[in-house]
Amino acid sequence: MATETAQKTVVDTFLNIEPVDLEHAGLSKDALKGQVAVVTGGASNVGLGYARAIAAAGAKVVVADLNAEAGAETERVINAENGPDSALFVKTDITQESDVKNLASQAFAKFGKVDILINNAMNMRLNGPVLKSPVSDLDASYAISARGVMLAVKEFVPAMIERGYGVVTYSATQFHYSPPMVGGSIYTAGKAAATSLIMSLANEVKGTGVNVFCLTPAGVGRFDFSKMPPPPKDIELPKDLPKFEPSMFAMPGFFSMIPPEAGGAAMVYCILHAKELHGSGIIINDVFTAMNYPFPNPATAPKPMPTHRLSDMELTMAFCTMGPGFSSR
Ligand SMILES: NC(=O)c1ccc[n+]([C@@H]2O[C@H](COP(=O)([O-])OP(=O)(O)OC[C@H]3O[C@@H](n4cnc5c(N)ncnc54)[C@H](O)[C@@H]3O)[C@@H](O)[C@H]2O)c1
Repeated sequence: MATETAQKTVVDTFLNIEPVDLEHAGLSKDALKGQVAVVTGGASNVGLGYARAIAAAGAKVVVADLNAEAGAETERVINAENGPDSALFVKTDITQESDVKNLASQAFAKFGKVDILINNAMNMRLNGPVLKSPVSDLDASYAISARGVMLAVKEFVPAMIERGYGVVTYSATQFHYSPPMVGGSIYTAGKAAATSLIMSLANEVKGTGVNVFCLTPAGVGRFDFSKMPPPPKDIELPKDLPKFEPSMFAMPGFFSMIPPEAGGAAMVYCILHAKELHGSGIIINDVFTAMNYPFPNPATAPKPMPTHRLSDMELTMAFCTMGPGFSSR
């Protein structure tokens, strides 16, 4: 059974989805035909958008996620959208070596190879400030965002090098230390560690046919602020900084600037341009500018920005001056 949305239909599901429309984004339905992708954290939000768009572009998709219910439903939805055997869900805790090995063996058994590795899983709740968080939160952040990335890279990249083709990407953040208004120090520490690993990998595999880059999906999702943990109240915010609040976004009450399906189209575009992006990072707004993405609703479209790639150094330093730092002296 399907539900009507604006012009297209979506499969009836408890997942929070809208139609993927690659044609609208100027992308062909067989742009990734013959390829196989693994998407970690592919059962919700950003990762779900990536997995559905990649499948819509003709690739087979392996969804790796901790969430068994959403993962099984993601497999069902992608198969319903693209035909049987388009997707495989493997329940995976990306921090556990045995789980990642099982993910690889199931992916290879089902589809014979893996061309694209999208490191996207993260626990967004690990977002406390340094002084208020238990050290175990930092361990957990590194476990997903550094250890999990390294485990997946070691499992999938050697075969890519052997075949002379592969794409590896990481869902980086624009915050590599936490500006006070965001309050996600433990989260950003994990993200920075994984970005460093991925950028080093780009240097290691240079010239092998494997291309490695970061895509920052800033502001992608359908978030309900009422279900998110409140920002820390006992931290004194600098007076000259804007407050980070829902009214800054297009739909008050929801953080809904960029639909995950549009994020997925941007990821397909980046995969197709992986050679150009190798060793760098790009923020999603810049991908839309490069694609000339025709957002149907200009009110929710990201603001046009001059298109540029971030070098590895810029990526690591991105937004470092958002806090008061030395720049306000
Ligand atoms: N949404 C944004 O605006 C934004 C901005 C910058 C970066 N990012 C990054 O993009 C990625 C996706 O963000 P999101 O907003 O979709 O997050 P999300 O919390 O909605 O989804 C994360 C997914 O990862 C899964 N996951 C968590 N721990 C796991 C583990 N140990 N093993 C396997 N799967 C696990 C979760 O079950 C979930 O499905 C994250 O890495 C995040 O840091 C997101």
